[in-house]
Amino acid sequence: MAKSFYITTPIYYVNDVPHIGHAYTTCAADILARFHRLQGEKVLFSTGTDEHGQKIEKAASEAGLSPQELVDRVVVRFQELWKVMDIAYDVFIRTTDPVHVQVVQDFYRLLKEKGYIYKGEYEGWYCIPCETFWPESQLDQRLVCPDCGRPLEWLKEESYFFALSRFAEPLLQYLRENPECVMPESRYNEIYSFIQGGLRDQSISRTDLRWGIPLPDDPHHTFYVWFDALVNYLTVAGFGRDEEKFEIFWPHAYHLVGKDILRFHAVLWPGMLLGAGLPLPQRVFAHGWWTVEGEKMSKSRGNVVDPYEMIRRYGVDRFRYFLMREVSFGLDGDFSERALRERSNADLSDNFGNMIHRTLNMVWKYCHGVIEKPGDYRDPEWESLLEDVKEKFFLAMEQFAFAQALESVWRLVHFGNRYIDRQAPWRMAKEGRERELKQVLYRLVDCSRMVGLFLYPFMPSTVVKLWKLLGMEDGCKPVQEKDWRWGGGPECYRVREPEPLFPRLE
Ligand code: MSP
Repeated sequence: MAKSFYITTPIYYVNDVPHIGHAYTTCAADILARFHRLQGEKVLFSTGTDEHGQKIEKAASEAGLSPQELVDRVVVRFQELWKVMDIAYDVFIRTTDPVHVQVVQDFYRLLKEKGYIYKGEYEGWYCIPCETFWPESQLDQRLVCPDCGRPLEWLKEESYFFALSRFAEPLLQYLRENPECVMPESRYNEIYSFIQGGLRDQSISRTDLRWGIPLPDDPHHTFYVWFDALVNYLTVAGFGRDEEKFEIFWPHAYHLVGKDILRFHAVLWPGMLLGAGLPLPQRVFAHGWWTVEGEKMSKSRGNVVDPYEMIRRYGVDRFRYFLMREVSFGLDGDFSERALRERSNADLSDNFGNMIHRTLNMVWKYCHGVIEKPGDYRDPEWESLLEDVKEKFFLAMEQFAFAQALESVWRLVHFGNRYIDRQAPWRMAKEGRERELKQVLYRLVDCSRMVGLFLYPFMPSTVVKLWKLLGMEDGCKPVQEKDWRWGGGPECYRVREPEPLFPRLE
């Protein structure tokens, strides 16, 4: 039976202006989704927007809109960006969707039935004019509101709690039994010691928040935004509504998140799921943060990288490639346009593009664009390299090590370029060594096809173009075992007149 994969991004605060951080997670998730679809596996890939909370309420009233009107207007910023970034999600979830509202309430009832919800008192530093509790981690000694600067007061309010503290030991046990459930390893260790320090119960309701989902049994309270937001992963998987879908996908959930929201995903969320008696996700992977030219990205610094702008300047695939290739997934990285241009010129123009261009050019020039599979197309040197690249590539993809996966593909590209130099097909043509010439060109064309197969998840539109150049119009259908083999392509390639895939950037 085909394996299944449920791949998620966080749901983004709908009123934020999308930046490179949002683009990064979503692009990684898209690559995984495309990679698995390409193998004919079942994929459910979701992203979406987090639409409740005080900030939305405030922004809406400032704009003279209702909160719903506001979120309906701004959600398109994300949806449009995903279109231009070639993000092929299956579901775009919005937390204001009535189905989600139902699921949050059902999930809460389930936790309550199991005895993990109780009413208590939430206390903390509160800004009365802003109607907001502030966690101590965001305050300094002055104890003033980080938003408006006015003094805070210590307040208590009635709140419902989820008994998270009861799950510390079960969570530790789960972590021990599933060493890859939180990745990378450094994050796993961080989460493990955090839980070892003991867990506090989690307040899950507020009485001061109107723009939120009401508790079904006490509508005077609304759900704390993170409780509401995390449940989106269940809503998408069909929890309580589509059992078949839920069984196919839920046990194979892979959550991609930034390191700043790992605790919500690797402590609170699995705690909630254990409470409800549901299986835990296969993996929560926390990636690092991008700085910009060495500095933290922030609105006040004015250095927020706008993905729309990057795509307009460089094209979507250079941007996608750079994000995935420049930094190991899991580590922090630095963004600069200079680095993007340099990497693009070196890897995409001078190496990848050059190999394809030279190959197609020669097939065009010496064989009128038509090259049949010769009887002796096999070659142990090519084949053993391909086997090795394939093994490393698949292993890296399984570990979400995208940069390493790409690195291994480039071994094939380098080899292709060197092969052209070594074999000097132009000399073969000149000397009339027809058989050898066809053999060499076929190998190069088939290598181009294979490189395309590896790169498709990363740069889908470029690879579709490449496959067209190779005369393979239906090149992006799910692949079979034979497609990954040397010589597994068409018996006869009818290539098109070459055009450069990545012109050099100045
Ligand atoms: N709404 C919550 C998530 C709820 S998921 C159940 C949220 N939203 S967010 O819009 O703030 O999402 C931010 C995402 O972007 C996080 O994964 C965060 O790590 C990521 N990034 C924000 N700035 C970033 C960088 N500078 N670099 C990389 N990613 C960063 O949190």
